[in-house]
Amino acid sequence: MAATLNIVGCGKLGRTLARLWTDHSVLTVQDVLNQSLESAQQAVSFVGAGQAVADYASLRPADIYMIAATDDRIVPCCEELARAGKLTAHTVVFHCSGALPSGALQAAQQAGAAVASVHPIRSFASPQQAAADFAGTYCGVEGDPQALATLNESFAAIGARMVPIHADCKVIYHAAAVFASNYLVTLLDVALQAYAKSGVPQDVALRMMEPLVRGTLDNVFNVGTVNALTGPIARGDMATADRQARAVAEWNKNHGKLYEQFVELTKALAARRHSTQT
Ligand SMILES: NC(=O)c1ccc[n+]([C@@H]2O[C@H](COP(=O)([O-])OP(=O)(O)OC[C@H]3O[C@@H](n4cnc5c(N)ncnc54)[C@H](OP(=O)(O)O)[C@@H]3O)[C@@H](O)[C@H]2O)c1
Repeated sequence: MAATLNIVGCGKLGRTLARLWTDHSVLTVQDVLNQSLESAQQAVSFVGAGQAVADYASLRPADIYMIAATDDRIVPCCEELARAGKLTAHTVVFHCSGALPSGALQAAQQAGAAVASVHPIRSFASPQQAAADFAGTYCGVEGDPQALATLNESFAAIGARMVPIHADCKVIYHAAAVFASNYLVTLLDVALQAYAKSGVPQDVALRMMEPLVRGTLDNVFNVGTVNALTGPIARGDMATADRQARAVAEWNKNHGKLYEQFVELTKALAARRHSTQT
Protein backbone atom coordinates (compact mmCIF):
# COMPACT_ATOMS: atom_id res chain seq x y z
CA MET A 1 0.00 0.00 0.00
CA ALA A 2 1.24 3.50 -0.84
CA ALA A 3 2.64 5.58 2.04
CA THR A 4 0.40 8.41 3.30
CA LEU A 5 1.34 12.06 2.87
CA ASN A 6 0.09 15.08 4.84
CA ILE A 7 0.89 18.52 3.46
CA VAL A 8 1.37 21.70 5.48
CA GLY A 9 1.48 24.54 2.98
CA CYS A 10 0.06 23.36 -0.31
CA GLY A 11 0.67 26.24 -2.70
CA LYS A 12 2.29 26.16 -6.14
CA LEU A 13 4.99 23.59 -5.40
CA GLY A 14 2.92 21.55 -2.93
CA ARG A 15 0.00 21.02 -5.26
CA THR A 16 2.24 20.18 -8.22
CA LEU A 17 4.09 17.41 -6.38
CA ALA A 18 0.91 16.13 -4.71
CA ARG A 19 -0.82 15.92 -8.09
CA LEU A 20 2.11 13.99 -9.59
CA TRP A 21 2.26 11.53 -6.68
CA THR A 22 -1.49 11.01 -6.97
CA ASP A 23 -1.50 10.59 -10.76
CA HIS A 24 1.39 8.10 -10.58
CA SER A 25 -0.10 6.26 -7.54
CA VAL A 26 3.14 6.81 -5.62
CA LEU A 27 1.82 8.35 -2.37
CA THR A 28 -1.67 8.65 -0.90
CA VAL A 29 -2.34 12.34 -0.31
CA GLN A 30 -4.29 12.45 2.95
CA ASP A 31 -4.68 15.82 4.74
CA VAL A 32 -3.89 19.31 3.48
CA LEU A 33 -3.44 22.28 5.81
CA ASN A 34 -3.01 25.82 4.47
CA GLN A 35 -3.43 29.22 6.10
CA SER A 36 -7.07 29.29 4.98
CA LEU A 37 -9.41 26.33 4.66
CA GLU A 38 -10.61 27.69 1.32
CA SER A 39 -7.09 27.59 -0.10
CA ALA A 40 -6.61 24.03 1.21
CA GLN A 41 -9.88 23.04 -0.52
CA GLN A 42 -8.65 24.54 -3.80
CA ALA A 43 -5.40 22.60 -3.43
CA VAL A 44 -7.29 19.34 -2.82
CA SER A 45 -9.40 19.90 -5.90
CA PHE A 46 -6.28 20.55 -8.05
CA VAL A 47 -4.55 17.46 -6.62
CA GLY A 48 -7.61 15.28 -7.11
CA ALA A 49 -7.11 13.61 -3.72
CA GLY A 50 -6.92 14.35 0.00
CA GLN A 51 -8.97 16.28 2.50
CA ALA A 52 -8.67 19.94 3.49
CA VAL A 53 -8.29 20.50 7.23
CA ALA A 54 -8.45 23.71 9.26
CA ASP A 55 -5.89 23.02 12.02
CA TYR A 56 -3.03 20.79 13.16
CA ALA A 57 -5.29 18.86 15.57
CA SER A 58 -7.34 17.62 12.60
CA LEU A 59 -4.35 16.04 10.80
CA ARG A 60 -4.57 12.26 10.84
CA PRO A 61 -1.34 10.26 11.42
CA ALA A 62 0.72 10.01 8.21
CA ASP A 63 3.98 8.39 7.09
CA ILE A 64 5.32 11.55 5.45
CA TYR A 65 4.79 15.29 6.10
CA MET A 66 5.73 17.79 3.42
CA ILE A 67 6.08 21.34 4.76
CA ALA A 68 5.80 23.38 1.57
CA ALA A 69 4.86 26.71 3.14
CA THR A 70 6.95 29.75 2.17
CA ASP A 71 10.52 29.67 3.52
CA ASP A 72 9.87 32.03 6.45
CA ARG A 73 7.03 29.78 7.69
CA ILE A 74 8.84 26.43 7.54
CA VAL A 75 10.29 26.57 11.07
CA PRO A 76 7.06 27.78 12.77
CA CYS A 77 4.96 25.21 10.85
CA CYS A 78 7.36 22.45 11.89
CA GLU A 79 7.23 23.61 15.52
CA GLU A 80 3.41 23.58 15.48
CA LEU A 81 3.40 20.13 13.92
CA ALA A 82 5.72 18.80 16.62
CA ARG A 83 3.70 20.55 19.36
CA ALA A 84 0.52 18.93 18.03
CA GLY A 85 2.10 15.53 18.80
CA LYS A 86 1.78 14.24 15.23
CA LEU A 87 5.31 12.88 14.82
CA THR A 88 6.86 9.50 15.71
CA ALA A 89 10.17 7.73 15.03
CA HIS A 90 8.62 6.35 11.83
CA THR A 91 7.57 9.73 10.42
CA VAL A 92 9.46 11.51 7.64
CA VAL A 93 9.25 15.32 7.55
CA PHE A 94 10.75 17.34 4.69
CA HIS A 95 10.72 20.77 3.13
CA CYS A 96 11.55 21.96 -0.39
CA SER A 97 13.45 25.18 0.22
CA GLY A 98 16.75 25.72 -1.57
CA ALA A 99 17.94 28.23 1.01
CA LEU A 100 17.30 26.27 4.24
CA PRO A 101 18.95 23.04 5.38
CA SER A 102 17.03 20.04 6.74
CA GLY A 103 18.28 21.19 10.16
CA ALA A 104 15.54 23.85 10.02
CA LEU A 105 13.22 20.96 10.89
CA GLN A 106 14.89 20.62 14.29
CA ALA A 107 11.55 20.50 16.15
CA ALA A 108 10.53 17.42 14.13
CA GLN A 109 13.91 15.82 14.72
CA GLN A 110 13.57 16.41 18.46
CA ALA A 111 10.16 14.70 18.30
CA GLY A 112 11.93 11.64 16.85
CA ALA A 113 11.07 12.08 13.14
CA ALA A 114 13.57 11.68 10.28
CA VAL A 115 14.04 14.94 8.34
CA ALA A 116 15.27 16.01 4.91
CA SER A 117 15.23 18.83 2.40
CA VAL A 118 14.47 18.20 -1.27
CA HIS A 119 14.95 21.24 -3.51
CA PRO A 120 13.60 20.88 -7.05
CA ILE A 121 15.59 23.16 -9.38
CA ARG A 122 12.78 24.55 -11.51
CA SER A 123 9.94 27.07 -11.37
CA PHE A 124 6.50 26.04 -10.14
CA ALA A 125 4.88 29.34 -11.19
CA SER A 126 2.22 27.38 -13.09
CA PRO A 127 1.40 24.11 -11.25
CA GLN A 128 -0.40 22.77 -14.35
CA GLN A 129 2.68 23.33 -16.54
CA ALA A 130 5.14 22.24 -13.85
CA ALA A 131 3.26 18.94 -13.40
CA ALA A 132 3.30 18.36 -17.17
CA ASP A 133 7.06 18.79 -17.55
CA PHE A 134 8.40 17.83 -14.10
CA ALA A 135 10.09 14.62 -15.30
CA GLY A 136 13.86 15.12 -15.50
CA THR A 137 13.91 17.89 -12.86
CA TYR A 138 17.10 17.91 -10.78
CA CYS A 139 16.59 18.02 -6.99
CA GLY A 140 19.34 18.84 -4.47
CA VAL A 141 18.75 16.58 -1.44
CA GLU A 142 20.18 16.16 2.04
CA GLY A 143 18.98 14.83 5.36
CA ASP A 144 18.66 11.75 7.56
CA PRO A 145 19.34 8.46 5.72
CA GLN A 146 15.92 7.07 6.74
CA ALA A 147 14.14 10.11 5.28
CA LEU A 148 16.27 10.05 2.12
CA ALA A 149 15.57 6.36 1.50
CA THR A 150 11.82 7.08 1.45
CA LEU A 151 11.98 10.37 -0.44
CA ASN A 152 14.50 9.25 -3.08
CA GLU A 153 12.04 6.55 -4.05
CA SER A 154 8.95 8.82 -4.05
CA PHE A 155 10.64 11.55 -6.09
CA ALA A 156 12.34 9.15 -8.51
CA ALA A 157 8.92 7.62 -9.22
CA ILE A 158 7.73 10.97 -10.67
CA GLY A 159 10.88 11.42 -12.75
CA ALA A 160 13.05 13.55 -10.43
CA ARG A 161 16.84 13.30 -10.64
CA MET A 162 18.05 13.29 -7.05
CA VAL A 163 21.44 14.90 -6.41
CA PRO A 164 22.90 14.42 -2.90
CA ILE A 165 24.48 17.54 -1.38
CA HIS A 166 26.44 18.06 1.86
CA ALA A 167 23.99 19.07 4.62
CA ASP A 168 26.48 21.55 6.12
CA CYS A 169 26.89 23.27 2.72
CA LYS A 170 23.22 23.92 1.91
CA VAL A 171 23.73 27.69 1.94
CA ILE A 172 26.74 27.38 -0.38
CA TYR A 173 24.68 25.09 -2.62
CA HIS A 174 22.05 27.82 -2.88
CA ALA A 175 24.76 30.43 -3.55
CA ALA A 176 25.86 28.32 -6.55
CA ALA A 177 22.54 29.00 -8.27
CA VAL A 178 22.80 32.68 -7.35
CA PHE A 179 26.24 32.87 -9.03
CA ALA A 180 25.02 30.92 -12.08
CA SER A 181 21.85 32.90 -12.55
CA ASN A 182 21.43 36.17 -10.61
CA TYR A 183 25.07 37.31 -10.63
CA LEU A 184 25.49 36.34 -14.26
CA VAL A 185 22.83 38.95 -15.01
CA THR A 186 24.65 41.49 -12.80
CA LEU A 187 27.91 40.75 -14.60
CA LEU A 188 26.30 41.25 -18.01
CA ASP A 189 24.94 44.55 -16.74
CA VAL A 190 28.49 45.63 -15.83
CA ALA A 191 29.50 44.77 -19.42
CA LEU A 192 26.63 46.93 -20.70
CA GLN A 193 27.85 49.81 -18.51
CA ALA A 194 31.36 49.42 -19.96
CA TYR A 195 29.92 49.51 -23.49
CA ALA A 196 27.88 52.60 -22.53
CA LYS A 197 31.06 54.28 -21.19
CA SER A 198 32.66 53.61 -24.59
CA GLY A 199 29.70 55.20 -26.40
CA VAL A 200 27.69 52.13 -27.42
CA PRO A 201 23.94 52.53 -26.73
CA GLN A 202 22.34 49.76 -24.65
CA ASP A 203 20.16 48.28 -27.41
CA VAL A 204 23.15 48.02 -29.77
CA ALA A 205 25.37 46.69 -26.98
CA LEU A 206 22.85 43.95 -26.18
CA ARG A 207 22.83 42.82 -29.83
CA MET A 208 26.66 42.98 -29.94
CA MET A 209 26.97 40.87 -26.78
CA GLU A 210 24.38 38.29 -27.75
CA PRO A 211 26.50 36.02 -30.01
CA LEU A 212 29.45 36.34 -27.61
CA VAL A 213 27.43 35.39 -24.54
CA ARG A 214 25.42 32.62 -26.19
CA GLY A 215 28.57 31.15 -27.78
CA THR A 216 30.40 31.23 -24.44
CA LEU A 217 27.50 29.52 -22.65
CA ASP A 218 27.34 26.86 -25.36
CA ASN A 219 31.06 26.25 -24.93
CA VAL A 220 30.74 25.99 -21.14
CA PHE A 221 27.98 23.39 -21.43
CA ASN A 222 29.74 21.51 -24.25
CA VAL A 223 33.33 21.40 -22.99
CA GLY A 224 33.23 22.70 -19.37
CA THR A 225 34.56 25.93 -17.86
CA VAL A 226 38.26 24.97 -17.98
CA ASN A 227 38.21 24.43 -21.75
CA ALA A 228 35.72 27.19 -22.58
CA LEU A 229 38.00 29.96 -21.25
CA THR A 230 39.33 32.34 -23.93
CA GLY A 231 40.79 35.86 -23.85
CA PRO A 232 44.01 37.54 -22.68
CA ILE A 233 44.51 35.60 -19.42
CA ALA A 234 43.85 32.25 -21.14
CA ARG A 235 46.60 33.24 -23.63
CA GLY A 236 48.93 34.34 -20.83
CA ASP A 237 48.83 37.98 -22.02
CA MET A 238 49.02 39.59 -18.56
CA ALA A 239 50.13 42.97 -19.96
CA THR A 240 46.70 43.42 -21.59
CA ALA A 241 44.90 42.26 -18.44
CA ASP A 242 46.91 44.73 -16.29
CA ARG A 243 46.22 47.63 -18.69
CA GLN A 244 42.49 46.83 -18.60
CA ALA A 245 42.50 46.52 -14.79
CA ARG A 246 43.98 50.04 -14.48
CA ALA A 247 41.56 51.57 -17.01
CA VAL A 248 38.51 49.98 -15.39
CA ALA A 249 39.60 51.07 -11.87
CA GLU A 250 40.06 54.65 -13.11
CA TRP A 251 36.59 54.64 -14.65
CA ASN A 252 34.75 52.98 -11.73
CA LYS A 253 36.32 51.97 -8.39
CA ASN A 254 33.86 49.13 -7.69
CA HIS A 255 34.11 47.68 -11.16
CA GLY A 256 37.89 47.94 -10.85
CA LYS A 257 37.79 45.77 -7.70
CA LEU A 258 35.52 43.30 -9.47
CA TYR A 259 37.93 43.16 -12.43
CA GLU A 260 40.87 42.49 -10.11
CA GLN A 261 39.02 39.63 -8.43
CA PHE A 262 38.22 38.18 -11.85
CA VAL A 263 41.88 38.37 -12.87
CA GLU A 264 42.84 36.21 -9.87
CA LEU A 265 40.02 33.71 -10.39
CA THR A 266 40.66 33.54 -14.14
CA LYS A 267 44.41 33.00 -13.65
CA ALA A 268 43.53 30.05 -11.38
CA LEU A 269 41.11 28.68 -13.99
CA ALA A 270 43.74 29.02 -16.77
CA ALA A 271 46.28 27.26 -14.52
CA ARG A 272 43.86 24.35 -14.14
CA ARG A 273 43.80 24.01 -17.93
CA HIS A 274 47.60 24.05 -18.16
CA SER A 275 47.81 21.45 -15.38
CA THR A 276 45.40 19.12 -17.23
CA GLN A 277 47.36 19.57 -20.48
CA THR A 278 50.74 18.67 -18.99
N1 LIG B 1 7.67 28.19 -6.49
C1 LIG B 1 8.80 27.71 -6.94
O1 LIG B 1 9.13 27.87 -8.12
C2 LIG B 1 9.70 26.91 -6.02
C3 LIG B 1 10.81 26.24 -6.58
C4 LIG B 1 11.63 25.46 -5.74
C5 LIG B 1 11.37 25.43 -4.36
N2 LIG B 1 10.30 26.13 -3.85
C6 LIG B 1 10.05 26.06 -2.39
O2 LIG B 1 8.78 25.49 -2.15
C7 LIG B 1 8.21 26.00 -0.96
C8 LIG B 1 6.82 26.53 -1.26
O3 LIG B 1 6.92 27.55 -2.23
P1 LIG B 1 5.64 27.94 -3.14
O4 LIG B 1 6.16 28.78 -4.24
O5 LIG B 1 4.84 26.73 -3.43
O6 LIG B 1 4.83 28.88 -2.12
P2 LIG B 1 3.31 29.40 -2.29
O7 LIG B 1 2.78 29.13 -3.64
O8 LIG B 1 3.32 30.81 -1.77
O9 LIG B 1 2.51 28.47 -1.27
C9 LIG B 1 2.73 28.51 0.10
C10 LIG B 1 1.57 27.80 0.75
O10 LIG B 1 1.85 27.72 2.16
C11 LIG B 1 0.67 28.03 2.86
N3 LIG B 1 1.07 28.58 4.17
C12 LIG B 1 1.73 29.73 4.44
N4 LIG B 1 1.88 29.88 5.77
C13 LIG B 1 1.29 28.81 6.34
C14 LIG B 1 1.08 28.40 7.69
N5 LIG B 1 1.54 29.14 8.71
N6 LIG B 1 0.43 27.23 7.92
C15 LIG B 1 -0.01 26.47 6.88
N7 LIG B 1 0.12 26.81 5.58
C16 LIG B 1 0.77 27.97 5.33
C17 LIG B 1 -0.07 29.05 2.03
O11 LIG B 1 -1.45 28.97 2.39
P3 LIG B 1 -2.56 30.00 1.80
O12 LIG B 1 -2.73 29.59 0.37
O13 LIG B 1 -3.75 29.76 2.65
O14 LIG B 1 -1.94 31.37 1.95
C18 LIG B 1 0.22 28.53 0.61
O15 LIG B 1 -0.76 27.62 0.19
C19 LIG B 1 9.19 27.07 -0.45
O16 LIG B 1 10.04 26.50 0.51
C20 LIG B 1 9.98 27.43 -1.71
O17 LIG B 1 11.28 27.91 -1.42
C21 LIG B 1 9.46 26.86 -4.64
